[in-house]
Formats: sequence, structure tokens, C-alpha cells
Amino acid sequence: MKKAAFAAILALSVSAPALAHSDPLPVGACINMGNSLEPMQEGGWGGQDIVPADFQRIKAAGFETVRIPVRWSNKSADEAPYTIDPKFMARVTEVVDAALAADLKVMLNSHHFDEIHKDPLGNADKLAGMWTQIAAQFADRPEDQLWFEIENEPHENFNNSNLVATITPALAAIRASNPTRAVIMGGEFWSGIDSLATLDLPDDPNIHPTFHYYEPFDFTHQGASWVGDKPPPVGRLYGTQADAERLEADVAKLQAYMTRTGMTPIMGETGAYDKAPLEQRVAYHTAVTEAFAPSGVGMCAWAYANTFPFWDHSKGEWLPGLRAAFGLPEDD
Ligand code: BGC
Repeated sequence: MKKAAFAAILALSVSAPALAHSDPLPVGACINMGNSLEPMQEGGWGGQDIVPADFQRIKAAGFETVRIPVRWSNKSADEAPYTIDPKFMARVTEVVDAALAADLKVMLNSHHFDEIHKDPLGNADKLAGMWTQIAAQFADRPEDQLWFEIENEPHENFNNSNLVATITPALAAIRASNPTRAVIMGGEFWSGIDSLATLDLPDDPNIHPTFHYYEPFDFTHQGASWVGDKPPPVGRLYGTQADAERLEADVAKLQAYMTRTGMTPIMGETGAYDKAPLEQRVAYHTAVTEAFAPSGVGMCAWAYANTFPFWDHSKGEWLPGLRAAFGLPEDD
């Protein structure tokens, strides 16, 4: 979630298409393995290599699902068939298989395909080419345990005017080898909650909507250098009356979407940067979890061990309070 979250988005009321759809995905409590497989070099953004013990620990903590963000686009060729570096494919496979072996469900995505957000239709063929390879690679993994997410957070020029046209070839590429596996996709403007009001998805019985929740952005992204030249100042506290009203209004937006479409989206990312004090992050997760849980949405914390961490690698322990804030037991 970045800059555009500042933008006031007027949710135009449009009628969603009548999709045939399946039951909500059983995501439950979920955590993102963020900033691991997106850098050119795993761990390159201050993180550490993922090891099987991470997944065992995540499972033991009560999480049911992990979302694994992967930047494939800079590890694959620019010309058709857009061959993905075999070593990288092997490494992602190893990580996914370690999560599956820990009895976790996995959301595997394409993340940070920067070019597609600038020129969506011009990069639709590459997106499809990459998904042809990814989908074939994982075609024999259990459908109830592994789900694909076509591309993280459409933004910039990747918006409602081209979203369906851009992802349809990728969906077709997936369907060639995985005819019924769950596929996830979020809407425009970084898939913020307001995107649900106008989200249109290809007509496919196994496609599932997602949104990301970082509201209020000036709290969750305080001091976040990557959102632009002037990040929201550090020191913003969470928990004002306006924050509570905002949360209630946002839950109502989710409910409106669910009523209109009959679909239950996934909250694929939520969290607060660790420039905010831990007790403030705990207060935020508590409020968001309590507000959204009754709707039945699965929620994925951003992220396991880096920038918005739940696990403290240096101390080798879970940061106190965050698991409970996420509705999980706090004991070790
Ligand atoms: C991005 C991360 C970022 C997070 C919060 C994610 O979608 O991949 O780089 O830290 O959003 O802004």
C-alpha cells in the first residue's frame, strides 16, 4: 500500500457482475512472508532467508495460511516465453513446499511487477507467460492448500479501465494447467477497501476477491520512506474517535460488497510499520481484527519478520501482544 492511499476515492456505485462463485476460501489467520522473495537477493531488504522452521513456528502459533509475495518479473526474460530463472523457480518451489509440509495453506502471488502498473496491457503477455510457468510448476500441489494471486495491488495505470483485460490472459494461462484452483485478485488503487465498490473480476467460479487494509494510512505508514518524499510524520497515535468511526465505516463497505456480490473477500495485507511503538501496533491490530472478524474475512498480517514484524529475528521471539491482537493464543 503506498501513496495512492492518500487519494480520496469516491466509491462510485456500480452494479457488480453476477458471478458464479464458490465458497469463501478458508484463509483464517494468515501472515505474509513479506520482503523475502521480492528482492533480487533473498533477504536483500534487511530480511533473512526463509527456512522450514519459520513455517513450523507460524503453524504452531495458530496461523492457518501464509501469503508468499514473489517478484517474478525481474527474474524472468523480457521476451516470450518469458522464461523464469530456473534457480529462482527452484527456490520458490522449495519455500512453497516447506509451507505446505508445515500443513499451512499458501497464497502464492506475483508482487512488484512494476512495469505492469505503468503499462498494463503492454505487459499482460508477460504476466500470462510467467503464470503459464508458475501454474505448471505447482499444478500437482493440493488445491485445498495452494492458491494463486495474479498480481499484487494494481495501481498507477493498472485500474478498472484495463484490469479485467490485463488479467484475463494470465487467468487463462493458469486455467490451462489448473482448471479449478482458487485464484485471487484485488482491485485498483492498491486494492484498498474502496476498490471493492467497483471491483470487476473475470467470470470464473474459482476466482476470489482480495483487498488490503492500512487505514488510517497516516498511522500505519508513519515514517515510511517508500511512500514518497513526505511520508506521514512519526508519532501519530491510533485510537481517536475518528479512527473508530472510520473503522466502522470501512467494515460497512466490506459488508456492502458481500451483500451485493455474495462473495467474501480476503484481507490480504494489514499492519502498521514499526516506526509506531509496539503497543500502538497491538492496539491497531486488535481494533482491526475485532471489527472485521465477524464478517468472516480471512486476514493476513503484513508481515512475518521485516518492517511490520510479528517475529523478532534478533531476539528469536514473537513480539509480545501481536498474536493476541490477531486473535491467536499468546503462549509459546
Ligand atoms: C509492499 C511492501 C510494503 C507494504 C506496506 C506491500 O504490498 O510489498 O513493500 O512494505 O505493502 O506498504
